[in-house]
Amino acid sequence: MPELLEVRGLHAGYGATQVLHGIDFTLAAGRITAILGANGAGKTTTLRAICQTVATRGSVLFDGAQLVGRATENVVRLGVAHVPDGRGTFGALTVDENLRLGGYVRRDRAGVAADIEQAYERFPRLRERRRQPAGLLSGGEQQMLAISRALMLRPRLLLLDEPSFGLAPMVVAEIFRILRALNEDEGVSILLVEQNAKLALDLADQAYLLETGRVALAGSSDEIRRDEAVRRAYLGY
Ligand SMILES: Nc1ncnc2c1ncn2[C@@H]1O[C@H](COP(=O)(O)OP(=O)(O)OP(=O)(O)O)[C@@H](O)[C@H]1O
Ligand SMILES: [Mg+2]
Repeated sequence: MPELLEVRGLHAGYGATQVLHGIDFTLAAGRITAILGANGAGKTTTLRAICQTVATRGSVLFDGAQLVGRATENVVRLGVAHVPDGRGTFGALTVDENLRLGGYVRRDRAGVAADIEQAYERFPRLRERRRQPAGLLSGGEQQMLAISRALMLRPRLLLLDEPSFGLAPMVVAEIFRILRALNEDEGVSILLVEQNAKLALDLADQAYLLETGRVALAGSSDEIRRDEAVRRAYLGY
């Protein structure tokens, strides 16, 4: 399968602080790749590097196009949508306004309206709260809104930063069921960053374990799940 995303020798950091020390990983078109790792390993920084919101060096090919050196807006226009950690919805705007804002680069108004309708079908709770400020939503609803807003770009690649963080198991299950459906039914490729290794490995086809800015382990989800050190440190058995 052709690679949709091919990351080679990626370095990234904040000022004098280097966080990523030359990482390599890939994501095949139509698949799901997970990046696992402890606090501070560099997972969030990896997503920021792909979106070019942090200083980077190395190569990030998206469908053959080099992302390094591009303006973030142009990365978005190529079809890469980022759901950042902490959701990134606009709390003072309503659910509906957040979704409309998600489609801001699009010119097809009818398509935008249809996609908002689809978001409400995917997450009926958002429809019930469509006129409420996003800041009043529960954590789970905000995550649903953040994902829906990213989907308004009709992305080919969805970057998700810890979508399970701080949410009750039932809400997490609902969100992950939708992510699987997005991938299987609509062909959206997903790069998923998670501390919850079990969840991530159940969803992903392949995974990479980051340790202090380096890839410590790479393989299929089954291979990673069987790894002794991963089991002890991340799966707890
Ligand atoms: N804006 C920033 N300025 C300076 N240093 C930062 C910034 N953001 C992150 N860092 C540092 O970069 C390192 C990696 O952080 P990053 O957020 O990528 O880790 P992470 O794997 O996502 O961790 P977590 O699981 O806690 O979200 C950490 O040491 C962190 O302190
Ligand atoms: Mg993080």
